[in-house]
Amino acid sequence: MLKVSAASVDVKNLSKCVVLFATKGATLAPESAKFDKAHGGLVSKALKKSRFQGDAESTFSFATPSLDKVDSVVVVGLGEADKLGTYTWRRACIVASQEVNKQFAAEATLVAENIKGDKTKELEVAKAIAEGFHMGVYKFDRFKTGQKPHQQVSLKKLTIQAKAESDLKAELPLVEAQTEGVNLARDLVNLPPNIANPDYMVEVSKELAKDGVKVTVLGEKQMEKLGMNCLLAVGRASHQESRLIVMKYTGNKKSKDYKAIVGKGVMFDSGGYNLKPSQGMAMMKGDMGGAAAVMGAMKALAKRKSKVNVIGVCGCVMNMIDGNGFLPSDILTSYSGKTVEIGNTDAEGRLVLADAMSYIIDKEKPTEIIDIATLTGACMVALGGSYAGLFSNSEKMAEGLKEAGDTVGERLWRLPIDDAYAAKPLLADLNNDGSRFGGASTAAVFLKNFVGDTPWAHLDIAGVGIGEKIPGTSPVDGASGFGAKIFVNYLEKDAS
Ligand code: BES
Ligand code: ZN
Ligand code: ZN
Repeated sequence: MLKVSAASVDVKNLSKCVVLFATKGATLAPESAKFDKAHGGLVSKALKKSRFQGDAESTFSFATPSLDKVDSVVVVGLGEADKLGTYTWRRACIVASQEVNKQFAAEATLVAENIKGDKTKELEVAKAIAEGFHMGVYKFDRFKTGQKPHQQVSLKKLTIQAKAESDLKAELPLVEAQTEGVNLARDLVNLPPNIANPDYMVEVSKELAKDGVKVTVLGEKQMEKLGMNCLLAVGRASHQESRLIVMKYTGNKKSKDYKAIVGKGVMFDSGGYNLKPSQGMAMMKGDMGGAAAVMGAMKALAKRKSKVNVIGVCGCVMNMIDGNGFLPSDILTSYSGKTVEIGNTDAEGRLVLADAMSYIIDKEKPTEIIDIATLTGACMVALGGSYAGLFSNSEKMAEGLKEAGDTVGERLWRLPIDDAYAAKPLLADLNNDGSRFGGASTAAVFLKNFVGDTPWAHLDIAGVGIGEKIPGTSPVDGASGFGAKIFVNYLEKDAS
């Protein structure tokens, strides 16, 4: 893992791979300009000979064999100075970290700049830089055997010079703990389904016990007794046993209140009898991105010793086909007692979440519940890879989650949950089907039936969980871990 440390501001101490910042028009940021001056205008001369314009997420690099302490310089574009904010800083540094790796550098140094026109506090800039580098150096290469050192991520150490050095020193371990959670989520999404099955999720959850998380796991027999027939139907055709994982973290012993986060853990979604087309089916190993985000958040909260009480729930199943599989037109009785007719076996995520949510509400009475799921292709069509869908029956939660998303750089866009979007059942209380049109809202309206009066929010991360256009990811290491950071930020807001 990348080691990030804090130091006081002194451009003379920049060494190894030096990362500098420039805004639109290739204008070097103040401290970057001082570095340039101290080295006889080396950087500005090189910039003049290039077409680099300081556009956001563009880079310009060169080796500096004539300098003693400095091996190379990477100039990162930030775009327009007055449009800067943590989102831009974080993304610029994701790109920067990848560029530093292209220089095969093991160590990099930089200054958290105060740029005229940027209203972001220096400490926030420094934190976003640390986060960006942590995100950017992630690589999922454990199945590439015989990798030579030069084929692996080179960057091992980053030093951030900042005026708020001591505050930054206190923040960096928290950023690191958060990154551990995010990277766990990314690993789980990237792992193939022949490894990451429901029992693998159980193993991972048990590891969290070391950090003080209490784990209980329900197997199929227990869920049958409880009447969780919707969740069980989805996993019935698989040889892997379905599991409901409940993780309890008590960071605030003074309170008896818990908030719940619930993730869709469809470890592979073949579609079931409503089989998916073969093109793109492989992507459905990532249909457990919601459960991965919950697991990652639990790890991060525990490692950060957050003073909050949280219950994390992962509904883990594999949506497969065999003679025992559930069928379109089946009618199931859910844990809540409501009956559901199956319009489509590929709309399985809402069935898993319905039982997982009504069970945990019934058993633990959380003060708030948030579910997260790669739920609908329709949400992906609506919002693409830059925003996740947000649905809520609570204005307060919707506002709080949106704010958390903006803070951590995982943005949410609110969509309607109006009964007009509900699928019409023929013979039962509800139908799990959806449509190409407004399908993200149809799924959300379905889920609303299972939360009663509990303040609830639903995050549809179908478009942002996995893929090449997701901020912070590259095509090969496609998983973003989207959601883990939102949970950490949102839940910590009311830490005592
Ligand atoms: N897991 C998919 C949704 C999905 C699609 C996630 C693309 C990530 C990328 C979900 O289970 C599904 O198949 N939904 C169907 C619902 C439809 C049958 C009502 C969909 O979106 O097409
Ligand atoms: Zn599906
Ligand atoms: Zn699915």
